[in-house]
Amino acid sequence: MIPESVIKEQLAHVLETTRFEGLGERHEGKVRDSYVRHGKRIIVTTDRVSAFDRVLGCIPFKGQVLNQMAAFWFAKTEGIVRNHMLALPDPNVMVCRECEALPVEAVVRAYNTGSTTTSVWHHYKNGERNFCGNVLPDGMRKDERFPRPIFTPSTKAQMGDHDESVSKDEIVRRGLLTRERIDEVERVSLALFALGSRLVAEQGIILVDTKYEFGLLDGELVLIDEIHTPDSSRFWHADTYEELLARGEEQRKIDKEYLRTWLAQQGFRGEGPLPHIPDAIKIESARRYIEAYELITGEPFSAQPGDLTGRILEHLRRAGHGA
Ligand SMILES: Nc1ncnc2c1ncn2[C@@H]1O[C@H](COP(=O)(O)OP(=O)(O)OP(=O)(O)O)[C@@H](O)[C@H]1O
Ligand SMILES: [Mg+2]
Repeated sequence: MIPESVIKEQLAHVLETTRFEGLGERHEGKVRDSYVRHGKRIIVTTDRVSAFDRVLGCIPFKGQVLNQMAAFWFAKTEGIVRNHMLALPDPNVMVCRECEALPVEAVVRAYNTGSTTTSVWHHYKNGERNFCGNVLPDGMRKDERFPRPIFTPSTKAQMGDHDESVSKDEIVRRGLLTRERIDEVERVSLALFALGSRLVAEQGIILVDTKYEFGLLDGELVLIDEIHTPDSSRFWHADTYEELLARGEEQRKIDKEYLRTWLAQQGFRGEGPLPHIPDAIKIESARRYIEAYELITGEPFSAQPGDLTGRILEHLRRAGHGA
């Protein structure tokens, strides 16, 4: 684990936004800036952190953690499905194949949990026993494991809207995807989830739930965006799972819930002005992202401190991209 002083110094160098020239058409997501040209997408993972569907600020090294963790998983899962990764010219940058993104997000959940109104637990405790076409057993407690992981796709939010969980039937009925395609997305998602769960279990971690995005390239399904990162997935520590479940206490989490929980404690739930996030909270959040990287990949995190913009431009130039 890198010293806290390194994280603290990096607060002054976080990568908030990029405005690179000559790399293609710029697209800005909540976390990533993309540059698209000639069938390629250069994805710069910034240090922006989002929660409640809003950008809340920047966390040192978060972009590097996310980009390198996604790269780790793309390599591990190549045998299951093709993915968009072509090259990693910089710790914060992935050169990808540009795909036509499918209009659904592929969510897989292994545990009956969550705190928001979109969570499976919220629906379950209000008496619902069918979630996105999955019949759920009676008598489950919060955080209990499902008999097997369930596929709960959601439609991508339109501007300002929140994602909506739907069944496969509903996706076909709305004409979003064909039956064959959504069945394929389900099959692949469950296979990715099984592999991910197995690998993190070796590190003493539980993959609780996750979201995949897919695109199409020449009619072929391709895994895009990110995979099994703390932004797209929930992770718990396995060693304390049973004991905490039995006591009805919160699980020990390794994910971006830390900042979300802190904000909720300040009374912020997505609406109104953002509370000021103290440095100590950002540093602890960074520490957790880095810890997540090391726990999940089983490899030490090699932090690349200092100014990121200049470094990224230089690496892209050397790789033959840019002006
Ligand atoms: N290979 C790819 N081809 C096309 N689009 C891609 C590819 N990889 C990722 N994307 C898209 O690039 C964007 C990445 O940015 P970011 O993750 O910041 O978005 P976001 O604000 O989280 O939005 P979303 O909710 O759609 O993920 C996403 O919209 C994602 O769908
Ligand atoms: Mg995203």
